[in-house]
Amino acid sequence: MNNILEIAGLRKKFYQLEAVAGVDFEVREGEILGLIGPNGSGKTTLFDCITGIQRPTAGEVRFMGKRITRMKPHCIYQLGIGRTFQLVQLFPGMTVLDNMIMAIQESEGTVLSRLFQMDESKDEKKAIELLEFLNIIHLKDQIAKNISYGQQKLLDMGMVLMSKPKLIMLDEPMAGVNATLGKEIAERLIELNRRGCSFLIIEHNMRVIMNLCHRIVVLDYGKKIAEGSPEEIQNNKQVLAAYFGG
Ligand SMILES: Nc1ncnc2c1ncn2[C@@H]1O[C@H](COP(=O)(O)OP(=O)(O)OP(=O)(O)O)[C@@H](O)[C@H]1O
Ligand SMILES: [Mg+2]
Repeated sequence: MNNILEIAGLRKKFYQLEAVAGVDFEVREGEILGLIGPNGSGKTTLFDCITGIQRPTAGEVRFMGKRITRMKPHCIYQLGIGRTFQLVQLFPGMTVLDNMIMAIQESEGTVLSRLFQMDESKDEKKAIELLEFLNIIHLKDQIAKNISYGQQKLLDMGMVLMSKPKLIMLDEPMAGVNATLGKEIAERLIELNRRGCSFLIIEHNMRVIMNLCHRIVVLDYGKKIAEGSPEEIQNNKQVLAAYFGG
């Protein structure tokens, strides 16, 4: 099995604090990999380093065999890595449909295509298909800030899907989402995975992580302390100690 993403010796230092302290792991093609660890263990910083939001202090990131370390965020996005943030990032005053269309035009639309609006109908068709897939098509004309937080999370995922990413990185997709919508998000995710998307998911909800992920990587104080199947991680003493002390 090929690796879609490879992280080697990755470090990120903020002044004296090493938020990511030399991390190695890979995401295999077609895999749902969970990234867990206590608060402040470096999970989001690791995401930021992979997606070009933060410059790693050292180490390498490879995506489909290509070195993407220190590339600009929009270049990494265009190569096929989609990402959501811990707190949803929407255009709050725009409709759900316009948010979807903006998501792609913001980073993909060239001056020319915008000028002639060549891609608009194509983008709208894609947006509608995705809103149908996510079961939020009935919300398409609602203003984004007025829909529930769980629905905003689904919209956020929809916006990521507009670029047809090969790897989707989700930072706490279930946080603040009720059980029904959480189930909905998980089902969509499994379906996308079935269609060939690989996933790297940060999530604190252990039941979600254990049910969804093929493998799990555990961070603690910026270091990888364990890696394995959900069963292996559940029974790992070091992981239990990191979470519950001991
Ligand atoms: N921009 C920054 N400047 C300075 N320190 C930072 C910055 N971003 C993160 N940190 C610190 O780096 C460490 C790791 O933070 P990070 O947000 O990556 O953790 P996390 O595992 O995502 O936590 P949580 O589960 O709470 O989201 C923390 O100690 C945090 O305070
Ligand atoms: Mg975080």
